[in-house]
Amino acid sequence: MSPIILVHGGAGDVPDERVPAKISGVKESARIGYSILQKGGSALDAVEAAVRYMEDGEAFNAGYGSVLNLDGEVEMDASIMVGSNLTAGAVTVVKDIAHPISLARLVMEKTPHLLLAGAGANRFAKEQGVPSVPPGSLVTKYAQKALEEFKRKGGDDRTEIGHNNPGDVGTVGAVAIDSKGNLAAATSTGGINGKMVGRSSDTCMIGSGTYADDNTAAISTTGHGETIAKYCLAHAIAKEIEHGKSAQNATTDVLEKMTERLKNTAGAITISKEGDLGIYFTSKRMAWAYQKEDNLHYGIERNQDTTEIIKNSS
Ligand code: GLY
Ligand code: GLY
Repeated sequence: MSPIILVHGGAGDVPDERVPAKISGVKESARIGYSILQKGGSALDAVEAAVRYMEDGEAFNAGYGSVLNLDGEVEMDASIMVGSNLTAGAVTVVKDIAHPISLARLVMEKTPHLLLAGAGANRFAKEQGVPSVPPGSLVTKYAQKALEEFKRKGGDDRTEIGHNNPGDVGTVGAVAIDSKGNLAAATSTGGINGKMVGRSSDTCMIGSGTYADDNTAAISTTGHGETIAKYCLAHAIAKEIEHGKSAQNATTDVLEKMTERLKNTAGAITISKEGDLGIYFTSKRMAWAYQKEDNLHYGIERNQDTTEIIKNSS
């Protein structure tokens, strides 16, 4: 099996000035994930590394650069899933750690549980030796500006990236198939700008933000979390594939139906067990990139698919 990694950097009204950083970020994330797959590494290691890279980037709403709750704090969610045995882990409303996706993986590997929340998740991080970062150090000036803007304008129509201002950034995610044909998916977010303190998102919910099953597909979603969760978006896409649809048709059809029914937008990336890809968003933009062999594909606009040949990627 020729391995593939496909990543997204968030769906929404990405402002023009944020486009270049988003594109370069998703391209680099895909390259990092692919370099692991190319050496025979697992889909799980690849999606974790790809998401960790974007958690470090200011251009993305995850880890450093996360949007803020109404108290001006970063509270983050993440989940990760392995398709071979449906094992999964997640964290929600976690604070002051740089890499929620790696904490989600530790929940998967070191606890009997699926999801740890808030203070308990932070206590578990400490027990596992995960370094904490100083309070406030994940907060960027863009995120502060976005919260100020939100408080000024109000309204409940916001999404991760909903108000077209420079602080608006997006959830990140990755799906991969490795050389053994195993699938994995990972998703990480700071949530929605101006959310209530303690709000949990689709991104920590297996079946909504993340899903992976070697019998069907791996999926990571982004967009309006309450909507994605009500529609069990990732699992809904997997089910359409199980019933015979291609990865692209399943991704497109389920997102269109969700948006028609619930009047809110999202995006998703999908890799089927055959290695077919699905990339679609009902939001205005979604940054995505994938690498297969020496070809790196990426886009952010509807119907964009730009290709670069990566030389000496080994
Ligand atoms: N990610 C924001 C949206 O749903 O448009
Ligand atoms: N989809 C991420 C969120 O709603 O927080």
